[in-house]
Amino acid sequence: MGGYGDVQLLREDGKRLDGRALDEMRPVSIEVGVLPAAQGSAMVTHGLNVAVAAVYGPMEAHPRKIQRQDRAVIDVRYNMAPFSTSDRIRPGFNRRSQEISKVTAEALESVVLVELYPRSKIRVEIEILAAEAGTRCAGITAATAALADAGIPMRDLMIGVASGKIENIVVLDLDKAEDNYGQADLPAGILPNTGEIAFLQMDGDLSPDEFNLAMEYNFKAAREIHDIMVNALKQKQQRGEA
Ligand code: CDP
Repeated sequence: MGGYGDVQLLREDGKRLDGRALDEMRPVSIEVGVLPAAQGSAMVTHGLNVAVAAVYGPMEAHPRKIQRQDRAVIDVRYNMAPFSTSDRIRPGFNRRSQEISKVTAEALESVVLVELYPRSKIRVEIEILAAEAGTRCAGITAATAALADAGIPMRDLMIGVASGKIENIVVLDLDKAEDNYGQADLPAGILPNTGEIAFLQMDGDLSPDEFNLAMEYNFKAAREIHDIMVNALKQKQQRGEA
């Protein structure tokens, strides 16, 4: 969140700079089964973001100190590729990727039926190939699609999506300029069927009414992305049967 209103982000006709309506998300596409070495994998494009996720396991949890007697642990590694932005990102783990990995793992552990796999570990690798705001959300969507592709049971499909506020107006799915110069950002991990929120962060300020509208937008987008994910999973199944 940068400029706080000093950059114009809405056009005279009330649309956003990229022509989207206030409650319109960027185009999303999902493909599963993209990496042969992984048990499950997915590639998500969300606007100009590209996220790839790979799932390995369930396997025995090592080292033993991370083992849980009654459930699996989910080990997430989120990483932005050095070439994912116009300024080269320094390779390796940093504080931001550590934070995103941790919150993503906690969210996934509340969605996956971890109690089915005691003492085991499920490894989820999320690689951001192109970053244009909203990569933690695209990463969550990709991780969920990869887990479903691996056949790991979940309570629902979790979808990552963010709304926010620009020029004092709530909008769905911030792009890079809106993320940089907007006033608030509300990324969420949504379970569209159960109506639950498994992950929520907020940057900037929203009034209670603005928060409610931003979450309404997030749920609307999550339902749309959920349908795209279900189609992607069905398509892979049909490819396998053909
Ligand atoms: O990507 P997300 O919106 O989840 O996280 P962020 O920390 O709010 O980053 C917003 C955007 O800033 C990213 O999507 C990247 O486009 C950009 N960024 C960057 O260029 N270099 C970084 N080291 C981190 C983020």
